[in-house]
Amino acid sequence: MVTEILGADSASVRRAAELLSQGQVVAIPTETVYGLAANALDEAAVKRIFEAKGRPSDNPLIVHIADKAQLFDLASEVPEIALKCAERFMPGPLTMILPKADCVPDVTSGGLDTVGIRMPAHPAARAVINACGFALAAPSANLSGSPSPTSFRHVKDDMDGRVAAIVDGGDCSVGVESTVICFENGRIRILRPGFVCAEELSEIAETVIDKGVLEQLSADAVVRSPGMKYKHYAPKADVTVVEGDVKAFRDYVGKKLDTNTMLLVFSKEDCEGLDTKFVELGTTAEEQAQNLFTALRSLDEMGAQKVYSRCPEKSGVGLAVYNRLIRAAGFKAVKV
Ligand code: TXA
Ligand code: MG
Repeated sequence: MVTEILGADSASVRRAAELLSQGQVVAIPTETVYGLAANALDEAAVKRIFEAKGRPSDNPLIVHIADKAQLFDLASEVPEIALKCAERFMPGPLTMILPKADCVPDVTSGGLDTVGIRMPAHPAARAVINACGFALAAPSANLSGSPSPTSFRHVKDDMDGRVAAIVDGGDCSVGVESTVICFENGRIRILRPGFVCAEELSEIAETVIDKGVLEQLSADAVVRSPGMKYKHYAPKADVTVVEGDVKAFRDYVGKKLDTNTMLLVFSKEDCEGLDTKFVELGTTAEEQAQNLFTALRSLDEMGAQKVYSRCPEKSGVGLAVYNRLIRAAGFKAVKV
């Protein structure tokens, strides 16, 4: 398949909508990461997403809308607490899991009786959804198992020849995927942390962080979000997260370094006195979120076989960075 490269101008948006209306798959930018979109209500179109991505079919897709009124078309019930979250965080990087309406096919929901709904803030994503007139199912636009794509080049590397078109919207501003939440007995449960953080959600209702956010779930655990049981965001290198202050970090990794071992640090000062290759994430949680997936791809391109990483904060937006990094590390962490 020849993949068309589209811009974010109005003619490109019309072309993207035309391809999507024909049941094709088009990669689109969102403020979190690029998504691999198809008509959420068209079973055959959604199946093409799973083929392009190589994704297990029991892993449900998020359905993207451009207008809050679409919540009521896609969900059979929208509780008061969900309306409050929508009011505050939509459009934005938040996905709400709600009971699904009959119009949402099983392929889209991965066979579940719920559906994840998100209203992206990115103008190109919104323009494409509006031009289509139907909601778009879209997982992150990476091949299953590799880091989510946060730039046009990442998408092209993974999807060229596998999808009808890619809409080039530049770099994603948030850089980690949306916060995924569900509701239970008046509480909010965070299934996947993101830029909309626990502290903000707890201003709306009591908020709990699901066990799977911080820990590896045992094989027999009840999994509320199928994505949590798959190996994720895995770079080729063997990553270890090193928890401790900068001095302890330097002392620990100083003894481990060789030519194929590299560091993932907040800033270059973290590797002062160490003769090694490194990639910088940034010093604020927001910068770290924005840079994480590019950093993981860069380490692969640099041929890193082993990577030692500093450990992000486990609060605010930092929790999202920690959650992605600890998965990239296969939950391998040391305290120093
Ligand atoms: O920011 C994002 O959310 C990006 C952009 C493209 O919008 N999308 C994204 O999709 O990250 P994906 O498919 O890579 O991740 C969706 C996650 C998966 O872990 C999936 O298991 C979970 O959300 N999910 C989706 N629908 C669900 C449902 N009905 N119940 C529980 N978990 C669900
Ligand atoms: Mg994904």
